[in-house]
Amino acid sequence: MAESATPADQEEWPISSAGVVGCGVIGAGWVARMRLSGVDVRVCDPAPAVVDVIDQVHENAVAAWADLDLLPTSVGSVAVVDTIEEAVLDAELIVESVPERLELKHATLVAIDDHAGPDAVIASSTSGFRPSVLAEPLANPERLVVGHPFNPVYLLPLVEVVGGQHTKASVLDQALGVYRFLGMHPLLVRAEIDAHIADRLLEAVWREALWLINDGIATTEEIDDAIRFGFGLRWAQMGLFETYRIAGGTGGMRHFIAQFGECLDWPWTKLMDTPDLTDELIDRIARQSDEQSGHLELRELERIRDRNLAAMMLALEEHRWGAGSVVAAQRARQAD
Ligand SMILES: NC(=O)c1ccc[n+]([C@@H]2O[C@H](COP(=O)([O-])OP(=O)(O)OC[C@H]3O[C@@H](n4cnc5c(N)ncnc54)[C@H](O)[C@@H]3O)[C@@H](O)[C@H]2O)c1
Repeated sequence: MAESATPADQEEWPISSAGVVGCGVIGAGWVARMRLSGVDVRVCDPAPAVVDVIDQVHENAVAAWADLDLLPTSVGSVAVVDTIEEAVLDAELIVESVPERLELKHATLVAIDDHAGPDAVIASSTSGFRPSVLAEPLANPERLVVGHPFNPVYLLPLVEVVGGQHTKASVLDQALGVYRFLGMHPLLVRAEIDAHIADRLLEAVWREALWLINDGIATTEEIDDAIRFGFGLRWAQMGLFETYRIAGGTGGMRHFIAQFGECLDWPWTKLMDTPDLTDELIDRIARQSDEQSGHLELRELERIRDRNLAAMMLALEEHRWGAGSVVAAQRARQAD
């Protein structure tokens, strides 16, 4: 019997050209990841500093991929162009990463939709909007998906992929394959919901952290320590449910829920409410954050983050576990 082909849910969809509209923190991360995957990218962003942003983020990405020992022999080109039309012309994947304002997203996506080729996938990086909402003014809503990445986009493998009510199944498949080709772990979200999956979880932690500072219980640094010395390490390799299964001992999840289920009725969290973001609270958070990390330049802090992430991913690769399995797959592909 012939060796089985790559299962459909693992297939890659190689691309050679892409357009990026909006090139700040996230857009520049996409540009770097795509170029390091050999893709030529055209960028449209009116910011005067866009070339510097692209260069600085690319420099960080090269350092991170070198840490992972994954630097490719050839890198895709990048060109900054004046119009959305030029950016999307002939692009196989078009990534929209303009600021999170619905009217701006709509205007930008309409312009992209007007000029994109018929087979292009249009992917929005939106953190919170549902694809059906983004697609409302589009003439061709069937080729729009949400492809929600995580900062730094060139290093973290996760991209949440969400289809709207008009998105074609074949376009979703194509998007999943393109993200695999880019060395990512696409997570298909079953149904659209504001803020997808990960940002809903992060929002919950963020709300509680704001309360802890507001109420004078903890500083920014103490909250970060509570995460990085403990459950953050567990989350990075097993997430929430597998971790709690173990915490339930031999009784597993059922025992865990029996033991801690009652706490949900106690006032352990303030999640249904948020503190007012008064000037005083914002000053307090910003001051504490300056005391914690203000001695480091942004790029220095990014390098420290990237170095640590790469080291963790390499350790996980040894065990073919979680994010490490994505690195292993990328390495195997490079060796082919
Ligand atoms: N920052 C994050 O951690 C993060 C993570 C995942 C997703 N996102 C999402 O990515 C998107 C972009 O966020 P960001 O953090 O990169 O914002 P950003 O402010 O860093 O970058 C936005 C860029 O868009 C450009 N821009 C504004 N109007 C434009 C237009 N009409 N045409 C082309 N470019 C335009 C700006 O000049 C800027 O460079 C948002 O939808 C956000 O929700 C952000």
